[in-house]
Amino acid sequence: MHREDFNLLNTDIIYFDNGATSLKPKAVIDSILKYYEEYPMNAHRGDYKLSLLTSNLYEETRVKVKDFINANKKEEIVFTSGSTESLNMIINGYFKDKLSSNDEVILSKSEHASLILPFMELGVKIKYANLDEDYKLTLDNISKEVTPNTKVIGLSHISNVIGDKRDIKSIIEFAHKNNILVVVDAAQSLGHTLVDVQDMDIDFLAGSAHKMCGPMGVGILYAKEELMREIKPVYTGGGVTVSFNEDEIVYKDIPYNLESGTRNVPGVIAFSKAIDLINLIGVNNIEEYITDLKKYLINKLSKLDNLEILNSNVEGSTIIFNVKGVFAQDTSLYLDKKNICVRSGDHCDKMLHEVTGVKNTVRVSLYFYNTIEECDKLIEALNNPNILEESLGI
Ligand code: ALA
Repeated sequence: MHREDFNLLNTDIIYFDNGATSLKPKAVIDSILKYYEEYPMNAHRGDYKLSLLTSNLYEETRVKVKDFINANKKEEIVFTSGSTESLNMIINGYFKDKLSSNDEVILSKSEHASLILPFMELGVKIKYANLDEDYKLTLDNISKEVTPNTKVIGLSHISNVIGDKRDIKSIIEFAHKNNILVVVDAAQSLGHTLVDVQDMDIDFLAGSAHKMCGPMGVGILYAKEELMREIKPVYTGGGVTVSFNEDEIVYKDIPYNLESGTRNVPGVIAFSKAIDLINLIGVNNIEEYITDLKKYLINKLSKLDNLEILNSNVEGSTIIFNVKGVFAQDTSLYLDKKNICVRSGDHCDKMLHEVTGVKNTVRVSLYFYNTIEECDKLIEALNNPNILEESLGI
């Protein structure tokens, strides 16, 4: 779908590393060029036509993001540098002052480092919910860890390695009945599946533009208005205050109190073009297409007896596997010789191997521009008894 929008797809490169970052369509690249050529001004800083134009375009993206995730107000959207910064701002700006040493946070070992590490750094008690036999995180497993001291559940909407989509709506409904707040890492789900923060009743959400066709260095932090008002600025500086003197700092209202310094203005403006493309295709169509593509790939790859696939029973956009007897990185290097880009390693989930027993894997992560023909080329490449020898060039 829409392959013509991506120059790299006119080459012989097969790009299967969409979990790390997606390709960028021409409209996004053109928008960045246009900014630098025509109105390369700061946003919310200048009282002249070009700066006002830049500020308006920046704010238009905020409205577009609000609509994209169905937030109630545009003030519930803060632009950050990416999911990692958003999560750090939520955890350090909101939870740091609210959690005491008796309070418990529930995570799982199938979460990204960006969610686990900021909570670890707080020094609070973390409980890791078990995964089911397919390494999926379920409400049942989360609920078993809840005690009267549980104050937060943190989880990705779609996990970046196993690829399971969590039943966010039911998990949040359960959490709220128990007075627990929920932090959702949507890095892998925005642009892949429907995210409706009001319908799902999401408290806090973090996401990245670059995994949904937008530019790098742009992220979003969503919080319900009343929670957003309680997030303290982790970074302060230019643009966030109304006034300050020796005795007092008066911060601006949300969301501007949380957007300190010069933001990635061209990136935010160009993000709008990525959202346009996703909306044009339809996120439900994207999800359906990728789900079918994964089914096709799993069906064929399962027939190769040199592969060990860890997440065959999980729908979604990732396939993690190893070629028997071949180190994951060697498999990547072998595939790279055939211009097939995949990721290998632990994929930033450093504790997942404690559950799966497998430390490094090869990850194929799909997006809407991948095709059956590309999948066939991957299958053909992996249907080879000499992968180790060919990767090492012996
Ligand atoms: N978190 C990104 C990934 O899963 C970088 O590859």
